[in-house]
Amino acid sequence: MIGRARAQAHPNLALVKYWGNRDDSLRLPANASVSINLDGLLTTTEVEWHGEDGTTDSLHLNGALQSGEALARVVRHLNALRERLHVRGRAVVHSENNFPTGTGIASSASAFAALTSAFCAAVGVAVDERTQTTLARLGSGSAARSIPSGFVEWHAGDTHEESFAESIAAPDHWDLVDVIAIVSTQHKAVGSSVGHPSAQTSPFQAARVQTAPARLVECIGALMTRDFAALAEVVERDSTLMHAVMMTSRPPLFYWLPPTLAIMAAVREWRADGLRVCTTLDAGANVHCVCVSADAEEVRNRLAVQSGVVAVRSAPIGGATHVQPLTTISD
Ligand code: DP6
Repeated sequence: MIGRARAQAHPNLALVKYWGNRDDSLRLPANASVSINLDGLLTTTEVEWHGEDGTTDSLHLNGALQSGEALARVVRHLNALRERLHVRGRAVVHSENNFPTGTGIASSASAFAALTSAFCAAVGVAVDERTQTTLARLGSGSAARSIPSGFVEWHAGDTHEESFAESIAAPDHWDLVDVIAIVSTQHKAVGSSVGHPSAQTSPFQAARVQTAPARLVECIGALMTRDFAALAEVVERDSTLMHAVMMTSRPPLFYWLPPTLAIMAAVREWRADGLRVCTTLDAGANVHCVCVSADAEEVRNRLAVQSGVVAVRSAPIGGATHVQPLTTISD
């Protein structure tokens, strides 16, 4: 039996961050988080499933056959999917990003969201959206947030089934834009999967986690009322808290570079001048400048002037995962 399906997913940007797990193998997060899907940035993944035909999976990324850790991580996820969906067989996976992998823009969220959706469709098992988010989470925590549409909340949950993501507002709820200042094109020296387990070595993680539910409420409230000033305050505070944990973990994780700080400082000034823009950073040096679409062009221009080394790409926020089954299961 052969089944084939294609799925697409966007990366997402967390406004209240996920950092640290209560259970590393199940990726049950230390705290709930909220994010927005990034339209324009897209991972497209096709899964060809050969039922009952061995277990040697293969992975092609942007046309190149993968081995080593990239393949091993995907095989671990396919094993989890096979086990939870009670299917046997091997998968041939082709995945492509429409954004260059060398930009430093994280792709594990869109990668594992698209892989999970495509796999479920290829093996022909009907899996509802909530369950798909829990399955995607096993591959990469933030992938859970790339399954639902638009503005998304990922509930921390105490069990695999309870740790799911859901849409809290449609993509067109608020016309926000993420202008990404590309400070470094380097792959992260220390990736998130290695970073999460170290979070608890920081004395600040307990305080960050304890206060995260209040930030989540503030953030969702600001999103629902489209209150940019309130959103900016909580988004920057949450990002800084996560980086404070990173910097004080053992071993410490420092992602900020001198241009990162310069842009963060400049954006605070621009906001004081009246531009509706704020910053947030993931596990890397690039600065996500979240702004209202009316101010996005001005933010782009100012970033270009502010630093010659900064290349900027803009992504209007919205979108979801679309699944296109290509072939029905055949003998
Ligand atoms: C800093 O989801 O990339 O971007 O589960 O190990 O794949 P893994 O980690 P990942 O962690 C994302 C961390 C973050 C914050 C966030 O997106 O919430």
